Amino acid sequence: MTAPADTRTVRAGGPLRGTIRVPGDKSISHRAVMFNAIAEGTAVVRNFLAGEDCLATIRCLEALGVPIVELPAGPRDGGGPSRSAFEVRGVGLEGLQEPAEILDVGNSGTSIRLLLGLLANLDGLAVLTGDASIRRRPMGRVVRLLAEMGVRIDGRSSGDRAPLAVRGGHTHGARIASPVASAQVKSAVLLAALGAEGETSFSEPVPSRDHTERMLTAMGVPVAVLGREILVTGGNRLVARSIAVPGDLSSAAFWLAAAAVVPGSELRLEDVGLNPTRTGILDILRDMGAPVELLDEADEAGEPLGDIKVASGELDAVTVGGELLVRAIDEVPIVALLMACARGRSEIRDASELRVKESDRLSAIAASLGALGARIQELPDGLVIEGPTRWKGGTVDTRGDHRIAMTCAVAALMADGPVTIHHTACTETSYPGFWDTLAEQGPIVE
Ligand code: S3P
Repeated sequence: MTAPADTRTVRAGGPLRGTIRVPGDKSISHRAVMFNAIAEGTAVVRNFLAGEDCLATIRCLEALGVPIVELPAGPRDGGGPSRSAFEVRGVGLEGLQEPAEILDVGNSGTSIRLLLGLLANLDGLAVLTGDASIRRRPMGRVVRLLAEMGVRIDGRSSGDRAPLAVRGGHTHGARIASPVASAQVKSAVLLAALGAEGETSFSEPVPSRDHTERMLTAMGVPVAVLGREILVTGGNRLVARSIAVPGDLSSAAFWLAAAAVVPGSELRLEDVGLNPTRTGILDILRDMGAPVELLDEADEAGEPLGDIKVASGELDAVTVGGELLVRAIDEVPIVALLMACARGRSEIRDASELRVKESDRLSAIAASLGALGARIQELPDGLVIEGPTRWKGGTVDTRGDHRIAMTCAVAALMADGPVTIHHTACTETSYPGFWDTLAEQGPIVE
């Protein structure tokens, strides 16, 4: 078999040191342009993550008649190829136009699920689709809940699979209880609630990331949180809100893990989002015995951020499940790598959601890290990992999943031979410039 054009080979290069700025947070970038699109006024989104996922959201908003202008990047717009700033001219909640074309979200689950909620407020028809991975992922979890609010959505597999056709415009409030803990589902419901008649309440089994609640509050929408219940009343106007997007902790996680496991390393990650619903990775690193330090903490439009310092050391085995797992939902691949480096038997539990991410991540982790020497057993809802690992060189396939690709790159930093990674272009979805930053740290990347 010939290797795909986007194959890369990584050779270990000693300790990682110095300072790294990661691109803007993916979740916050999506929300900043989407919410400002339906706000009143103009906002500037700085340090926007110009990765493929968030650019897909911008293209869809433009197709819905929202004027969005790219600005020259300034000093607060991050480094590398992800450097970007956009001005969003809000059209108001009722200002979206029926799109003349099919909205294509590419690989982005956040785009398609949040847009379903946004389109609940459009009095017209919109059709949404995406790449092969998106067309395999479950959409019924959003479609069924929005149907309870009067939104008509049809699609393949009785509305569970894209392409999806949405006819909105006549929504009413409802008491919505989601069976899955998912910020994408929650955000879709809360966006639909903005234009619904009356009050909507939303609850989920475990609290998911709360960027939507924070941003709506920062834009002047009253969001009441009563225990596990979130309440939003329809008809509130959103006031445009500029933001400099904090760095993405989910991207920083690869460097934090690399610094923790490559002997002699010490890294400082600058201006990273520290929203407590996202910081599970920091708790896990600390539980495993890694020295993690927070510095220069600040706040940006209701989102906490700061610098994170971490250094290498011996790691202990841990078990991760429940609320901690939800607070580290996107970090499971790199957490699995940390566990494979730790002494003893670690477990990941309650993670069946990982099977419906960009790939079946439990299977992809077991296959890729397993090929490089890790001892991993797959469970229906998790992984059992026996460490430490003697990492060896080899060939792995990312299955087109950006977080698997970056996890394999970190494993290569400890391997006793070159690691060849097939299908690496997917890192563009969340981390443009990842391979360049890796090479700047010393490893040879070809
Ligand atoms: C996201 C929520 C999470 C996460 C995804 C981004 C968001 O998905 O995995 O990368 O921005 O709301 P779920 O809500 O499906 O858990």
